[in-house]
Amino acid sequence: MDLGIKDKVVLVTASSKGLGYAIAQAMLEERARVAISSRNEESIKRAAESLSQNGKYDVFYEAADLAKAEDVERLMDRVLNHFGQVDILVCNTGGPKTSNFTDTNYEDWKNGLDMMLLPVLQMTQRAIPKMRENKWGRIIFMTSTWVKQPREKGVISTMARSAISGLSKHLSNELASDNILVNQIMPGPTWTDRSREITARLSEARGVPVEVIKEEIAKEIPLGRYGTAEEIANAVTFLASDKASFITGSSLQVDGGQIKSTV
Ligand SMILES: NC(=O)c1ccc[n+]([C@@H]2O[C@H](COP(=O)([O-])OP(=O)(O)OC[C@H]3O[C@@H](n4cnc5c(N)ncnc54)[C@H](OP(=O)(O)O)[C@@H]3O)[C@@H](O)[C@H]2O)c1
Repeated sequence: MDLGIKDKVVLVTASSKGLGYAIAQAMLEERARVAISSRNEESIKRAAESLSQNGKYDVFYEAADLAKAEDVERLMDRVLNHFGQVDILVCNTGGPKTSNFTDTNYEDWKNGLDMMLLPVLQMTQRAIPKMRENKWGRIIFMTSTWVKQPREKGVISTMARSAISGLSKHLSNELASDNILVNQIMPGPTWTDRSREITARLSEARGVPVEVIKEEIAKEIPLGRYGTAEEIANAVTFLASDKASFITGSSLQVDGGQIKSTV
């Protein structure tokens, strides 16, 4: 199926590995022009090389720490100077500290918001003018099912991402007349380095093997397993595509059925 995004310019952040990397890969397969970014220069360069598949695809990369406003501005300057526009903005971030509210302090909240909320506002604001001019745009916010169903030790994620959910719905109304569609994707448990780190920490804290933790989580999921980064990327690519031209202001959970509510 032709998804109609050939030659569209895509920026996916936090993309040297995990969900962001898989999203970049899926967009390249649709022949979109792709820019990726993460903090570590070496990692993002390696990711760009790997995504390029020996020159089959051209991948633009820039190292930038989303927690630093000046890095985010430089990232947007570099991408906009190179491509002239961003047609599809996929706002993905690193994951925050996992803790309960009473275990967090001011620095933790600030770090979480600096990395997960403020750069999303900056990037979105910089991408909108060209989308408006072109009367075409897609903004996809990567959040989490924790927005819908908070979990133990997920307070920073739930708090920062709930703000993004509100932004997503607001923007979908504000930008609809310019044919800019705005949606959020809420991934459920997906097997990436972040899930590996979280299960390893739980395993250590509880003194049980990682496999036991993994099985417990998989049992909560009707499909009986973690998702893959590619499965999340498929949903993002669909929402970015021309086939999703009547979908805006939506929140799509991609979680193997883990959320129990009806809507
Ligand atoms: N995996 C899941 O089950 C799941 C479910 C729901 C939501 N999420 C959320 O989805 C996001 C991506 O998760 P993932 O599983 O793909 O994690 P991952 O595999 O650990 O990858 C994280 C990516 O973020 C980059 N990154 C981290 N901090 C950054 C920063 N300050 N500035 C720029 N880039 C940064 C990392 O590269 P560098 O180290 O080079 O910066 C890496 O590319 C996270 O916010 C996570 O909480 C994940």
